[in-house]
Amino acid sequence: MNLRTAVAIMSGMFGFRYRSLSYFTLLALVSIIGLATLNLYHMESVRSTWTPISANSMTSDVPGAGALVAGCEEVPMWQNQLYHRAMLPPTLGRRSKTKKFMAIGISSVFREENYLVQTLKSLISESDPEERRDTVIVIYLADTDQEKKEKQLRLIERDFQTHLDSGFFQVIQSGPEIYPPMDFALTKRTFNDSVGRVLWRAKQVIDFAFLFSYSKTLSDYYLVIEDDIISSTQYITAIKDFIASRGTHHWIALQFSGFLGIGLLFRSADLNNLIKLLIMFHQEQPVDMLMRQYIALQVPEDSMVARRIPSIFQHIGWKSTLPNKVQKLKDSTFDIAKRRFKNHNPSADIITTMKIYNDFIPEYAYRAAPGFFWGITRPNDTYDIIFPKPISLSRIVFLTGVPTLKNKQKIMKDFIQDGDLLISSKFQKVASNSSAICDNFLSLKKFQDGEVDFQKVDVSGMTDIIVKLKSTQCIRVKIGPNQKSWVIVREIQVFIED
Ligand SMILES: *[C@@H]1O[C@H](CO)[C@@H](O)[C@H](O)[C@H]1NC(C)=O
Ligand SMILES: *[C@@H]1O[C@H](CO)[C@@H](O)[C@H](O)[C@H]1NC(C)=O
Ligand SMILES: *[C@@H]1O[C@H](CO)[C@@H](O)[C@H](O)[C@H]1NC(C)=O
Repeated sequence: MNLRTAVAIMSGMFGFRYRSLSYFTLLALVSIIGLATLNLYHMESVRSTWTPISANSMTSDVPGAGALVAGCEEVPMWQNQLYHRAMLPPTLGRRSKTKKFMAIGISSVFREENYLVQTLKSLISESDPEERRDTVIVIYLADTDQEKKEKQLRLIERDFQTHLDSGFFQVIQSGPEIYPPMDFALTKRTFNDSVGRVLWRAKQVIDFAFLFSYSKTLSDYYLVIEDDIISSTQYITAIKDFIASRGTHHWIALQFSGFLGIGLLFRSADLNNLIKLLIMFHQEQPVDMLMRQYIALQVPEDSMVARRIPSIFQHIGWKSTLPNKVQKLKDSTFDIAKRRFKNHNPSADIITTMKIYNDFIPEYAYRAAPGFFWGITRPNDTYDIIFPKPISLSRIVFLTGVPTLKNKQKIMKDFIQDGDLLISSKFQKVASNSSAICDNFLSLKKFQDGEVDFQKVDVSGMTDIIVKLKSTQCIRVKIGPNQKSWVIVREIQVFIED
């Protein structure tokens, strides 16, 4: 690898905005390192003329070089134990032989109100079997009290045996040997926390490090959540969509809720560094702040941590795991895109020629998880739904715009004023401007007050439409010349004919 390739690769990691800057910084760095290496090399070759270089001669000359020569410094016993225990089989469930799409890690300690079961039930009921096949939930019972752990184990076995058998759930435990010896006298009371709270905090950091260590090889992505949350429907697909929307852009973490400890997604391959950072600084900061630091070290601006809005996880806990600390925070974006219909849209590809505003990708309006598409329009723009093969439809609904207050009056903002709903029976290909090329589009209905609700029963006499509805592969919304505002599509429902 020559210098230019190295610089290109490294500057690529900083994003294109920093390319020119990092090029020169790196160039400077590389030349300094280069010179230093040359000097060392020169010294060694001179010295080797009269005495062979051994580890001993090096270490005696260079203060602190002993560790370097030996290759590594001594790892404390508890850290060895942590890595070792993380490789053992789970207490309940089994490790899968194949790598999954995502691991969801939950570190849980027993509480009076047992939110864990409610959390697990939500994660099951809001996913479908296909999504679950591709995901594993790792529950770490982090209590030090064996009796409490046994109680949770029996509960999980009783309620979730099928999910333990299927490989969706794994339950893990550890022992006191994975934790550093906690010395009250040496405890650093950062954040004006009491010694008790610092120790509790520090244990929680190690809990996370252990859970990450166990889970890092199970999947491509790792999602951090807590044991007192509920999720939106089809949260797994929502996460896949959001990852896909990043394309080839480099990212360190993605956020799926307003809280750092809930719904933070990492690449599993990156977890090793995070684990090391947690272990190194377990006493300095709480785990959510350490994760924030880990991200901040790698992204030039906080804004580069992409967050999905609305959130797909909501905090339900009231009592914190720490006695007497009450947590009542709720995520305000969780409920903003509630659906009007309960319907399961057939799987489809969604594309649009509209410019996508921020992260409000076109898929959001179509998927079951809450979300809306926000687009910047020009006349003739299209929003296309393409099915893998033609299907028979009975009803198509598009709801657009969001209500906002203006002079204390509720008005709709960013709805489709001028739009047409069309269908076609045959998809051919995707054009370079992201519009679908389909045969003979047929117009069904125009938007009125930002909505279109087309039902087969309303067109019973019209044979050409009925024939096309029986075999539809493309659904299109086309923006007319009189559209003045941007467009928010907040819900799309496609009903299949039984
Ligand atoms: C630190 O905590 C103590 C006890 O809770 C409190 O009285 C004090 O005001 C706190 N100091 C700061 C700087 O927050
Ligand atoms: C939109 O399409 C119509 C009909 O194909 C065409 O006449 C018109 O010029 C187009 N408008 C724009 C802005 O591209
Ligand atoms: C996109 O490309 C297709 C095919 O070339 C064309 O028919 C259509 O008018 C284009 N749409 C826009 C909004 O430019």
